[in-house]
Amino acid sequence: MESDPGTLIHQRFGLDLPLDMPAEMGARLGPWLGRSVCREYRSEPVSGELLSALLACAQSAPSKSDLQQYAIIVVEDAAARASIAGWLPSMPWIAEAPLFLVFCGDIRRNQRICDLRGRSHANNNQDSFLNAAMDATLAMSAFMQAAGAAGLGTCPISHVRNHLPQMRDLLALPPGVFPVAGLCAGIPARREPLSMRLPPSLVVHRDRYDDAGLEADLAAYDARRHAAQPIPPEKQKNAHHYGTAEMCTWSDQVSRQLSLPERENLREFLRGHGFDLE
Ligand SMILES: Cc1cc2nc3c(=O)[nH]c(=O)nc-3n(C[C@H](O)[C@H](O)[C@H](O)COP(=O)(O)O)c2cc1C
Repeated sequence: MESDPGTLIHQRFGLDLPLDMPAEMGARLGPWLGRSVCREYRSEPVSGELLSALLACAQSAPSKSDLQQYAIIVVEDAAARASIAGWLPSMPWIAEAPLFLVFCGDIRRNQRICDLRGRSHANNNQDSFLNAAMDATLAMSAFMQAAGAAGLGTCPISHVRNHLPQMRDLLALPPGVFPVAGLCAGIPARREPLSMRLPPSLVVHRDRYDDAGLEADLAAYDARRHAAQPIPPEKQKNAHHYGTAEMCTWSDQVSRQLSLPERENLREFLRGHGFDLE
């Protein structure tokens, strides 16, 4: 795998961004710049010792107010895994990955703790929901980074949220615990090519938000990305609605996806599952 940070940055952005970094720092940051998801795994299992270490790394992530409002379900049961894979047949990596975990937001544990301490829990609200989702995300991110450092590949799976009632029943998720994302992990057979990112000019703002350059910078990004990584017809989103395009740019793909509603049932599911989001 490429490890020179300058080359990686060029591949990541399709731009020659200035990079003034001592070689030692470049060597440390290379794995971050060069990461990509993994959707093809070797069949070798991940040892229980390594899994325990990675879970410890996940639990070492920061957590809002140290409230630790998340839970991790390691899906070990073959039939349960087959069910999840069966609900998402377009993603065979869910069945093939040696490991599959589900990272959940969890406000239930602290509700029970308040109860045990004889106090009422007065924070079942949108802020707690967001904090729980962030805690789960940070734990998943720490797991992914640790797995990467240990030579594993990973792929988050938000599509577990396409089947919320089924996931709830399969994993016995009680009220107050909801799936944020699944995660495949294992020794990579192949990693996805580096995916080109938006230029920093569209993402990083100095002192105040300023998107005056959106149209020009986006057009340039679309052109760069299409030249390097064209989106083939079979990967173009919502083709049943929009057909396929010879030149489907990144922004075309974004608007194809976001113009049709997805997962509209989340709020209703959460309402019926112990979350007060009013
Ligand atoms: C929260 C989250 C959910 C994702 N869900 C899925 C998923 O359901 N299936 C999948 O194959 N990839 C999924 N991905 C992976 C993204 O598609 C991937 O990160 C993105 O295309 C950029 O590629 P890269 O990570 O290799 O740079 C998810 C990523 C994130 C952060």
